[in-house]
Amino acid sequence: MALLEVKNLRTYFFTDDGVAKSVDDVSYTVNRKETLGVVGESGCGKSVTALSIMRLIPMPPGRIVGGEILFDGVDLLKLPEDDMRAIRGNKIGMIFQEPMTSLNPVFTVGNQIEESILLHQKVSKEEAKNRAIEMLRKVGIPAPEQRYKEYPHQLSGGMRQRVMIAIALSCNPSVLIADEPTTALDVTVQAQILELINELQQTLGMGVILITHDLGVIAETADRVAVMYASHIVEYSAVNEIYFNPLHPYTVGLLGSIPKLHIESDRLMTIEGTVPVPTAYPVGCNFASRCPYATPTCLAEEPALKEVETGHFVACHHWDEVKVRRPEHLVEAN
Ligand SMILES: Nc1ncnc2c1ncn2[C@@H]1O[C@H](COP(=O)(O)OP(=O)(O)OP(=O)(O)O)[C@@H](O)[C@H]1O
Ligand SMILES: [Mg+2]
Repeated sequence: MALLEVKNLRTYFFTDDGVAKSVDDVSYTVNRKETLGVVGESGCGKSVTALSIMRLIPMPPGRIVGGEILFDGVDLLKLPEDDMRAIRGNKIGMIFQEPMTSLNPVFTVGNQIEESILLHQKVSKEEAKNRAIEMLRKVGIPAPEQRYKEYPHQLSGGMRQRVMIAIALSCNPSVLIADEPTTALDVTVQAQILELINELQQTLGMGVILITHDLGVIAETADRVAVMYASHIVEYSAVNEIYFNPLHPYTVGLLGSIPKLHIESDRLMTIEGTVPVPTAYPVGCNFASRCPYATPTCLAEEPALKEVETGHFVACHHWDEVKVRRPEHLVEAN
């Protein structure tokens, strides 16, 4: 049984501009010790999916209108809020995309880590303090005893982000959802954080959902990848397949628009056009207007996500043609 299974999730926002179907029939799983990478352009539903798992969607205007989120076999969407509170921040930890807004300005950082530990674990205040300082050290904060006593405004953005990471990891979660966890950090600290997550993953068997724009980070850390576009998963497979055998034109575009180490060609592609807004998705395939492979079928019929090669799922009417026609530098990497 998967550690966490998102099944046919639909999260909609009921706005003045209409219904935004921000997450529409999304399914993915995370196993113990495994990292699922989630990639896609801005606004495609990565964070809304993660916040749905945590049941932190603002309601209204949002509502989870369908699907299941099975954690250890239990549907989180059916749990009373009290039970969910015991899981959130404890068995399922999350590093939020906007760390500045998630820390309370009136409490010291030490206080906030300690509070999270005390809320979920039966340890003394003294032990909680020691663990908080230890976590600050682990996420690479110099002079943690001193920092422990400081308030969020006394820390730089990168430091605050590390405090958020310390809070998320302090309870040894079974599942860690990391939403752009290292964007504000320099490469050395970024590597250190990813290493720490990896270490906890190995020792505690933690499953990780890593949301990022950075395909380099995905290549280094993910076991499997879900590519999201306009509220859907359009490609889902083992990480090597994504890089060496991309079957969705959108994935091919993402790979082409980012300078990659193993791609020597400087002939970079960009994906022309923009993501449609979730209140006004077209009939047919959401990617059709930007897709070099689009045909009238694509404008009429929405492609379903299908397993087209072993363990490799894609939602495209023309994946077989993509396989033959995709740019050479991607095929050469094979
Ligand atoms: N509270 C809300 N009310 C209305 N629409 C919302 C709300 N929260 C999110 N959305 C919409 O849902 C869509 C998906 O947003 P989401 O934050 O999941 O994108 P994302 O993939 O995480 O993007 P990014 O890479 O920029 O973080 C967006 O179009 C966004 O405007
Ligand atoms: Mg996001």
